[in-house]
Amino acid sequence: MEQIPRVLSWRNMLVLSLAINFSLILRILKGDDEYSLYRTAYFSMWPVASGSSASCNYNEMEEEKDDDRIINLKLGDPTVYERYWQEMGEMATMVIPGWQSLSYFSDNNNNLCWFLEPELGKEIVRVHNVVGNAVTQDRFIVVGTGSTQLYQAALYALSPRDDSGPINVVSAAPFYSSYPLITDCIKSGLYRWGGDAKTYKEEGPYIELVTSPNNPDGFLRKPVVNRSKGILIHDLAYYWPQYTPITSIADHDVMLFTASKSTGHAGMRIGWALVKDRETAKKMTEYIELNTIGVSKDSQLKASKVLKVVSDSCEKSGNETAKSFFEHSYDALSKRWELLRQAAKNSQHFTVPDFASQRCNFLGKVFESQPAFAWLKCGKGIVDCEKFLREKQKILTKSGKYFGDDQSYVRISMLDRDSNFKIFLHRISSSFNSTL
Ligand SMILES: Cc1ncc(COP(=O)(O)O)c(C=O)c1O
Repeated sequence: MEQIPRVLSWRNMLVLSLAINFSLILRILKGDDEYSLYRTAYFSMWPVASGSSASCNYNEMEEEKDDDRIINLKLGDPTVYERYWQEMGEMATMVIPGWQSLSYFSDNNNNLCWFLEPELGKEIVRVHNVVGNAVTQDRFIVVGTGSTQLYQAALYALSPRDDSGPINVVSAAPFYSSYPLITDCIKSGLYRWGGDAKTYKEEGPYIELVTSPNNPDGFLRKPVVNRSKGILIHDLAYYWPQYTPITSIADHDVMLFTASKSTGHAGMRIGWALVKDRETAKKMTEYIELNTIGVSKDSQLKASKVLKVVSDSCEKSGNETAKSFFEHSYDALSKRWELLRQAAKNSQHFTVPDFASQRCNFLGKVFESQPAFAWLKCGKGIVDCEKFLREKQKILTKSGKYFGDDQSYVRISMLDRDSNFKIFLHRISSSFNSTL
């Protein structure tokens, strides 16, 4: 201890203190502290100040260092929403004490779906009423472990129980690549994958999946087979105002929704079905009971919290400076789509679909769909687009062949983190031409 005064005299201490302060001031001025990096990334894609317009110039965005790493845009992992929820901080945080969620049952007054948490049921109805994207009145809500489980529950509920053999399940190509896999994975005696609805010719009952907006291409859809014995399941995972104008209140027999794409909470594994017919809802509930004896209560509680924050943000957005969750997400996707379209135009070696402009009843403005995926078509002699992007540009995408289409298409997630999306844009903008 006595050594210290001898080693560090007051002059040494003064010099040291000046040096530390000087370097701190420099760091703040240069803005290279952890928070400034976070802020820059956040503001580049999530313009918080009201009225800030989305820039469509790639160079104006904070350039992410392209370190030659592999960019995986194969899945629709909704990590673009991470920043919004980080910003929400305490408002979207909940504590679940250890004594909670012990029972299998939910205290929901004998609701048909006995494991649905009442709070979640309430927030599901509220968010649909706020957005105006689906009818909830006189509908049964069935909660599921993601809409993936609800899809299977719907197949179980809607398949005939006579001895006519498995019912065919069809969807117009390009269709969501998981449908055939999920449908056939247990080789059920009740249902089987029947392929592209556009070429479906068989007589008798069938189930048609209508995904609108569609995964992978983002177009709005209607049933295509249109025969009397058709049973419809509407997968409305992307019928939310950040992706497409909300032009009417969806009113179909079975409608599937998911937190994965509405709020970005894929890891929570919560989906819900709005079902018109009591018997169908009952059978769907029975399937989930047999399959997983209900749905995680902790996840349901978190989902209700998240949906509440979303609805609150919409109802407060009369205030000029506070944007709703959907306005934030709309801005982020709008900016990404503008940049992607510009890159496609400049390159002339790939195209992305064009969508009709429509008026959104929720956002009160006219815009084109800006889907969660870009259905990109390679041109100029590139036969296998997925291989080309993987080998030449280290970008992982999902080939059109998995969606019942051809290999010149790939599906690219538009929902990844800013850093990956920027590198992706940079690579396809600058190197598409040079690598041909
Ligand atoms: C059209 C569609 N339906 C359902 C799902 C699955 O949703 P969940 O995460 O709720 O199982 C996805 C996921 O990508 C999807 O694109």
